[in-house]
Amino acid sequence: MKFLPLVFFVVACKDKNPPGVTEEFVYEPTCDNADEAVTIEGEVTWADDVGPIVMEKCTSCHVDGGIAPFALDSYGAASPMATAMAGAVTAKRMPPWPPSSCGDCQSFDHDRSLSDEQIATIAAWAEQGAPEGGSADLDPTDPPRLAREDAIVTWDGDDYTPSEAASDSYRCFLVDSPSATDAYFTAYEVRPGNPQVVHHVLIYHPDNDEAVADAEALDAQDTELGYQCFGGAGVSADPLVAWAPGGGATEYPAGTGLPIAGGRPLILQLHYNTANGTGPDHTEVAITVEDEVDQPAVLARINNTDLELPPGLDAVTDSYAVPVNQDILVWGVLPHMHELGQSIQLTVEEAGEETCMIDVPDWNFHWQGMYLYTEPVSVNAGSTAEITCVFDTTGRDETTYFGENTTDEMCLAFVYVTGG
Ligand code: HEC
Repeated sequence: MKFLPLVFFVVACKDKNPPGVTEEFVYEPTCDNADEAVTIEGEVTWADDVGPIVMEKCTSCHVDGGIAPFALDSYGAASPMATAMAGAVTAKRMPPWPPSSCGDCQSFDHDRSLSDEQIATIAAWAEQGAPEGGSADLDPTDPPRLAREDAIVTWDGDDYTPSEAASDSYRCFLVDSPSATDAYFTAYEVRPGNPQVVHHVLIYHPDNDEAVADAEALDAQDTELGYQCFGGAGVSADPLVAWAPGGGATEYPAGTGLPIAGGRPLILQLHYNTANGTGPDHTEVAITVEDEVDQPAVLARINNTDLELPPGLDAVTDSYAVPVNQDILVWGVLPHMHELGQSIQLTVEEAGEETCMIDVPDWNFHWQGMYLYTEPVSVNAGSTAEITCVFDTTGRDETTYFGENTTDEMCLAFVYVTGG
């Protein structure tokens, strides 16, 4: 959409290219299913072309005090970074959007990937020496906000300051239940206390009272605030929230919600990354709960707990299939591996036909999240769901097994499901 006015503008000005502007810039898309190169002609400017893309796709993180190490929220801030920006977007490192952006595996809410035209526009701008093109009045796009806030999930007492000794630290806090009665969790908005260090946030719902007691014991053993945890909550629990920076509020699909037991404490997990320094944090998650929903949801687990990965190999593939025994609607997927993960894919096969449910071609433990579809996908009883994970074990000299610790691995997908 944004590209059309640009083409128009470019054609009109074709003979008036300022010095330094090459006739055209050709970008070859990297997706296998893309057949055409994108050609950008004429001058590309911050004011008309690049600024609006950056305000929509980059400034949720690239602002002063944000999770990203530098701001891109003005011409003055972005223009010295033009070459780096072009490099990061053409390599698809930025914006962080782990699911395949090739349009060949579902479409997702809050998709932050750039179109090929947007990538080409940023790259052409950098090549032209990052012209400003007049002073545009551009503001960062505001992230979506929670429509109704029923409770705040956070820990009592002091702020927590992650140690700079490790660049990544994982902390779990046992927090009060947001509801005295059984209810459904329907929406959330994470408000990082210290956006420079908060890398991702999860909320877990302990499976039962025993799991709560286990978490209390872990908390009591740890001398600091909260307790240390890595791939999960350290106790038997299912996620309600999986958030990474840059998104605003997330609403579960209308009429659906995840059940929570009245009075049962939750576990708030923070992943802190201290690469840019550290400082006190007191992250809050505002949430919406409903007494009833039309379609209660579950997060079904597809999880190979027999994972056994031989050491010293750059691509160990693990596949795990489970039969689907009732008709369901699938609304989204939360794929999960640890740090050896390279790629993860979930497919459903029915009568010889395969549907891609999620494809993360370049797994990055730092940017995991729950991806909700723009439309639910119906899956029939009798089909088979299969998860395929690829790991790089070259850094290991012993077999790696399933488990929650940093050195363990997982090949897991939580699937947001309602009855079909
Ligand atoms: C969701 C948060 C987020 C968004 C959105 C985002 N970035 Fe980043 N960016 C980061 C973080 C964090 C880093 C630091 C390195 C890292 O963690 O990968 C970074 C690093 C970078 C770097 C330097 C490192 C590299 O990979 O080259 C560039 C350049 C960059 N971003 C450009 C962009 C551009 C351009 C956009 C928008 C098109 C964008 N980023 C959107 C979070 C974000």
